[in-house]
Amino acid sequence: MKYVISGTNRPGSKTLMVAKHIQKMYAEAGETIGIIDLQEMTLHEVIGHYGDTAPEAMKQAVAKINQADGLIIVTPEYNGSFPGALKYFIDHWSYPDSFEFRPVCFVGIGWSFGALRPVEHLQGVFGYRNAFMYPERVFMMNGPKYITPEAIADENVVKLLKSQMTGFQKFSKALSAAGLAANERLAKK
Ligand SMILES: Cc1cc2nc3c(=O)[nH]c(=O)nc-3n(C[C@H](O)[C@H](O)[C@H](O)COP(=O)(O)O)c2cc1C
Repeated sequence: MKYVISGTNRPGSKTLMVAKHIQKMYAEAGETIGIIDLQEMTLHEVIGHYGDTAPEAMKQAVAKINQADGLIIVTPEYNGSFPGALKYFIDHWSYPDSFEFRPVCFVGIGWSFGALRPVEHLQGVFGYRNAFMYPERVFMMNGPKYITPEAIADENVVKLLKSQMTGFQKFSKALSAAGLAANERLAKK
């Protein structure tokens, strides 16, 4: 299964709305995908010491990631980068299992630059950790204006998201057909 990761735990987050719209798009295209929501990880209670035992919800999310056939990361722009909550979560993933050869694509939400910088910062992290990054990224400029729980009210952005989805589906299938699926590699270890 693929999972869309909503990259912030801010209550009322636009990012979570976009993640839900993306989940619906995949459903309409015939594929059921899951959501991993940072709000469910009770981060507000637990951000403490690295090395402490991770909370159960975080362990469960990492287990899903380690089995995923694709990850769609939706990130807002917070101070020119992706949120610390998302980095904190990523810092609990396991290496190489969570990252290596795992197909990943990126969607950014911001004002003037549509979260270009956060997405490129994430690409730095995932490139360093040997993930397969799908090159078609979506940058939602002025995102807060047209994202509501009901819709992404910008036709062009919806078109870009759909194009990314169909390309990403082919990308993960092609990698698997070529014997490059992360999960198969892990199974062989
Ligand atoms: C802590 C914080 C920092 C932000 N910094 C930026 C920024 O550097 N650039 C930008 O374009 N928008 C910035 N924004 C605006 C957010 O990118 C925008 O409101 C987006 O919708 C936030 O996603 P969210 O609703 O999921 O929290 C910031 C918002 C917050 C809460």
